[in-house]
Parts: sequence; C-alpha cells; structure tokens
Amino acid sequence: MPLVTSTEMFKKAYEGGYAIGAFNVNNMEIIQGITEAAMEEKAPLILQVSKGARNYANPTYLKKLVEAAVEETGLPICLHLDHGDSFETCKSCIDGGFTSVMIDGSSLPFEENIALAKKVVDYAHDRGVVVEAELGRLAGIEDEVKVSAENSSYTRPEEVEEFVGRTGVDSLAIAIGTSHGAYKFKYGTNPKLRFDILEEVSKRLPGFPIVLHGASSVIPEFVEMINKYGGNMPGALGVPEEQLRKAASMAVCKINIDSDLRLAMTATIRKYFAEHPDHFDPRQYLGPARTAIKEMVRHKIVDVLGCNGKA
Ligand code: G3H
Ligand code: 13P
Ligand code: ZN
Repeated sequence: MPLVTSTEMFKKAYEGGYAIGAFNVNNMEIIQGITEAAMEEKAPLILQVSKGARNYANPTYLKKLVEAAVEETGLPICLHLDHGDSFETCKSCIDGGFTSVMIDGSSLPFEENIALAKKVVDYAHDRGVVVEAELGRLAGIEDEVKVSAENSSYTRPEEVEEFVGRTGVDSLAIAIGTSHGAYKFKYGTNPKLRFDILEEVSKRLPGFPIVLHGASSVIPEFVEMINKYGGNMPGALGVPEEQLRKAASMAVCKINIDSDLRLAMTATIRKYFAEHPDHFDPRQYLGPARTAIKEMVRHKIVDVLGCNGKA
C-alpha cells in the first residue's frame, strides 16, 4: 500500500470515537519502534516530520525510511509535515511526496493566517495532499521558538467556521490548554483541558476533524528513570491520559506525540549506560531504546487512542 492521506482515517476515527496517533520521527529507530507497534496492533498511523527533523535527518532520508516502513508493515501510513512555517516548506514537502502538511499560521493575525492557509490548500489539493492549520496558540517550545504562557491563547470558537470555510483546510488544530514539551502544567496543580471549547468548536463544525498538539502525557515512569540515572527533569508534567481518552472520544481525530518518544528513548539509554558503562556499540543502546518506543506506542494505541484494529 502506498502512503495515504488522513481523509479516510479521520472519517472513521470521528465516527468511531477514537483518534489516530501522530508521532514525530527523527531517525530510523524511532520510525521502526512506532511502526512495529502499529503493525502488531493493526493501527492506522500518521508519521510526522518537523522542520527540525528535516534539518537533522535530511528530508530524503526520512522519506525513504518511511517508505521502507510502509513496505515492511503494509499499514496505511500518512506522511505529514508538522508545523510547516511557510508556503515554501509546505510546497517542498508536497513536491517531495508527503501526503499531508500543516501550515502553522497560528502566530499570525486572523486574516494573514487565512490567506497563508488558503494558498497552501490551493497548492496541496490540486496535488491530492491534505492540509492542517491552527487557530489559537499553544505555549511551549517547537523548533527553537518558545511561546510563553502569557503569549499563548485559547482558540476562539466563534472564529472556526469562517476560518475553515474560507481556507478549505481538511483539519484544524485548536488550543485548549495543552502545550509542547515536557512541562505542560505547573507541578502540583490539577491539569485540566478546556473541553468546553472543544465542545463548542465541534458544534460549529459538525463532523470536522480536530487536532490536538502538545498531547504527550509525559509518562511519569520515564521521567523518574531519567532522574534516577543522572538526569534532571523536576516538575515535568503532561496531559493526563483520561483527558486524552476523552478528547479522542469527541471530535479530536489526531493526537500529536513527540515528547513521550523522546522521554522513552532518553530514559532507556540513560539506564543502559548506568548499567553498562563500558559499552560503546550504538546497537546495544539504540536497540533497547527502539523497544521502549515500541512498547510506549503500543500503550498509546491500545490504552489511550483506541485505534488498535482499525487499520
Ligand atoms: O511540535 C513540535 C514537535 O515536538 C517537534 O519538535 O521542532 O524540535 O522537531 P522539533
Ligand atoms: P508533545 O511535546 O506534547 O509531544 O507535542 C508534540 C506535538 O504537538 C508535535 O506537533
Ligand atoms: Zn505541535
């Protein structure tokens, strides 16, 4: 099966009350860990590539690795550009064979966000590629751009119909209290997503797929392991899994996960070196890291997203 768009995946996810996992990929072991779990759990999958990932790994390498995963697993896989920052970046991915792109104009004024998204949609749709855009602004760090809590803002539900109507985007990322990175909420507080906003957005856009960025749960087991083996991540806190499950049962069809992959990999490698200080063969520590990613992704698919058996 060739790479697919997310259209069918989202339609079924919306109707079925579950969500598709969109996992960020940066190298071979990450791609293998994610896709092996998805294959064993028969889960549809979105693999997403950020601008930072393109700079790190080279777009051609990433595309070929994802193609290898498609060949190995036979799964419906959508290859998505995460946080595209310009028309040119989106065009380059569309021309390079991506099946989905995000144009992130969330920091722009409303009219400029619309104009940019529309330009990308026109180019993408002519070539069979789907487009995600964002309204509202998440706090956190992405591609070295730090958005402070004060500069973040919830999505305004009264804007979504006009935005989707005028741009023609295929899915919409909204800000309901999640943020990028491993420090999403103040430690000791009770993290609460704004489900009232999600509800209001989905009332205004019936049947339309919503995307949740910054949706890692910052799995405590991995944070503890990092801290135990020489790391220093006090106060790391993510989105509680029951709130992700609730979002997945509502209009959220795509849940973005990167930080949990990083934590799984880093925790495993830290532990490995603490226990084997004399080892230096990368396969010895990247192998367990890949397995940790696989099991973490399996947990997300089965226990959080509910997309197992839906491929
Ligand atoms: O939303 C951001 C993702 O976690 C990607 O992060 O830009 O550092 O690759 P990155
Ligand atoms: P996390 O940092 O919560 O994993 O979010 C990732 C993301 O939104 C990628 O676009
Ligand atoms: Zn994001």
